[in-house]
Amino acid sequence: MTNHKKLKAWVQEWAECCQPDHVYWCNGSEEESQRLLDEMVSSGAAVRLDESKRPGSYAFNSDPSDVARVEDRTFISTEKEEDAGPSNNWMSPAELKATMRDLYRGSMRGRTMYVIPFSMGHLGSDIAHIGVEITDSPYVVVNMRIMTRMGQAVLDILGDDGHFVPCMHSVGAPLEPGEQDVPWPCAPIAQKYISHFPETGEIWSYGSGYGGNALLGKKCFALRIASYMAKQEGWLAEHMLILGITNPEGEKKYLAAAFPSACGKTNLAMLISTIPGWKVEIVGDDIAWMKFGKDGRLYAINPEYGFFGVAPMTSMDTNPNAMLSMTKNSIFTNVGLTPDRDVWWEGIGTPCPEGTITWKNKVFDPAAGEPAAHPNARFTAPARQCPALDPAWDDPAGVPISAILFGGRRPSTVPLVFQSFNWNHGVFLGSIVGSEVTAATIGLKAGVRRDPFAMWPFCGYHMGDYFRHWIQIGENAPVKEVLPKIFNVNWFRKDENGKWLWPGYGDNIRVLEWIFDRCNNNVGGVETPIGLVPRKEDIDLRGLEDVKENLEELLRVDREKWLDECGLIADHYAKFGDKLPGELTAEFEKLKLRLQ
Ligand code: GTP
Ligand code: SPV
Ligand code: MN
Repeated sequence: MTNHKKLKAWVQEWAECCQPDHVYWCNGSEEESQRLLDEMVSSGAAVRLDESKRPGSYAFNSDPSDVARVEDRTFISTEKEEDAGPSNNWMSPAELKATMRDLYRGSMRGRTMYVIPFSMGHLGSDIAHIGVEITDSPYVVVNMRIMTRMGQAVLDILGDDGHFVPCMHSVGAPLEPGEQDVPWPCAPIAQKYISHFPETGEIWSYGSGYGGNALLGKKCFALRIASYMAKQEGWLAEHMLILGITNPEGEKKYLAAAFPSACGKTNLAMLISTIPGWKVEIVGDDIAWMKFGKDGRLYAINPEYGFFGVAPMTSMDTNPNAMLSMTKNSIFTNVGLTPDRDVWWEGIGTPCPEGTITWKNKVFDPAAGEPAAHPNARFTAPARQCPALDPAWDDPAGVPISAILFGGRRPSTVPLVFQSFNWNHGVFLGSIVGSEVTAATIGLKAGVRRDPFAMWPFCGYHMGDYFRHWIQIGENAPVKEVLPKIFNVNWFRKDENGKWLWPGYGDNIRVLEWIFDRCNNNVGGVETPIGLVPRKEDIDLRGLEDVKENLEELLRVDREKWLDECGLIADHYAKFGDKLPGELTAEFEKLKLRLQ
C-alpha cells in the first residue's frame, strides 16, 4: 500500500475514466501471480503446461491481429512536430490525448484495473527509475513480474512523494454485462495507439496486449522515454545487449551490441563458445543504460529483470542457455502446444509431435504451409534462471564497456566484422545500420531498411539530435583513451543460393575473439575504405574447416557494392535535414573519397 498522494490521485482519475469493476494494487508476490494465472487458465486465456515437464509455466495465444509491435500506430507526441523527427509518427499532445481519452472512457468495463509499481534497474539504486503501469490485462501483470522488479518494494522506495513515470495501458475491449470474454482481448489495428509524451514523461498505450506495445517498462519506458531523459542528462539508453567475455588467460571484458529487433542480441548475449578457453556471460539481452563512471569509463546496466525472447529457431544447438532459462516459471506466447502439454516451435530441434496445436488453435499440418509458432512467438523467462548469468548482472554499479558493436541482417555488402577508425567514425557506422526486416514488427515492407543504432523504432526524440548526442558523448568523455572501441558485425551474409556463409551462434565467438584482441592491440587490422578488417589468418577457424573457403568473401570489401550503398546512405541521411551533425556528413564524405 502507499500514501503517495499524486500516485493515488492518478490511479483514481483513470479509474473514473475507464470504469473498471475493481481496482487492484499489485504487491508482486508469488501468490498473487499464481492466482492471476489460475484465473486465466480457468477462463481459457492460458494453458498450464505439464508440471513435470515445465513447472510453473503457461502458454497463451494472441489474437491474430495482435502479434508484434505496431510501428504505424506508435507516436512520439511533442509540442512541436519537428522535435519528433523522421523516425516517429507525430500528433500534438492535445489532439492525441483527446482522441485517446475518448477511447479510454469506459474501456475497462467488466474488467479489473491492475496497478503495477515497477523499477527499471536495481531497487533503490541511483541509476534506476520507477514506473507505475495501469493495465486491464492480467497477462501483462504476470509478464511484468518476470520482466521487471515489481510490487510493494517499489512503492516502499517511492515513499510519499517519489517520482514515477505514469504508464497507462488498456487492451481496449470493454465487456458488456454478461458478455463472454475472449482469450485475447484487444482493439482493431486502427484503434491501437502506443503513445509517448517525452516532454511530460508519460506513456499512454491502448488497444494491444502484445510485447513492447503492452509491457510498458520495456520499449516505451526504458528506450523511448529513457532516451529522452538520457539526452537531457548526458547518458545513453540503448537497444543493446551486454555481455562479459573472458579469454583463456582469464582476462575479462564487457561488450555492448545494438542489433535491430530479431537480429541476434539474445543469441549473442547467451553464446556458448565453440573454441576452447573462451567464455561468455550475460548481463542483458535487449536494453542497456550507460553512464560514465568515476574512472571515466562507460558503465552499463541492464534495467530489465527477465528475457522476452524470440522462440522460433531457439534450440539446444543454437542457444542452450535460452532453452535452460525457460525450463520453468516461464510464459510462452504464440508457440505450438504439444499433446503432452509442452511447447514446440519451428527450429526447436526436435520433430513436431503428432497432434500439436498451432498458435492459431488448429491441429498442426506440416503440409499446410502454416507454422506451428508465429515467427514472432516469444518466451518470457526470469533472468536468474539463465545458467550463464554474469556475476555482475545484479550490480547497480554496472559493468565497464570496452567495445560497442553494431550490426544487422545484411545478405551482401557488409563484411563479417570491421572496426571504426575512431569514435566519430563509429557513430557514423551506427547511424547507417541497415537490416532486412523481421517479424518483430507488424506491417513493414520486405527488404533492407535503415535502422540506425537499432533505435529507429525506439528513439524518443529527433534522431538527428540523437546522433549529435552520441557525438557529444565522445567529445565529453572524461578519459578519451578508455572510450569503448566501435565495431560493426554481420552474421547474415548469404551466397548466391541464399545459404548462410557464416555458421553464426556459438561460432560468433571467433569474431568476438578478434574484437577482444583489438581492444588490447594484440592483433592487426587491415585498413580498407570502410574501416579496419581482419586478415584471414586473424580469425580462428580451428574446427570449422568448411567455412575456410567462405572467409575471403566474408571479409571482402566490395567497392562497387559500397558505392551503391553510398547512394542508399545519401537517401537515408536526407531524412535528417539540418539536424544531421556535420561530423557525420564529414565521415560520409571521407568514406566516398576512400572508395574512389
Ligand atoms: P529482439 O528481442 O526482437 O530485440 O531480438 P534479438 O536481437 O534479441 O534477436 P534474437 O537473438 O532473438 O534472434 C532472432 C533470430 O535470429 C532467431 O531466430 C535466431 O535464431 C536468429 N539468429 C540469432 N543469431 C544468429 C546467428 O548468429 N546466425 C543466424 N543465421 N541466425 C541467428
Ligand atoms: C523488439 O521488438 O525489439 C523486442 C520485442 O525486443 S518487443 O518487446 O515486443 O518490442
Ligand atoms: Mn528488442
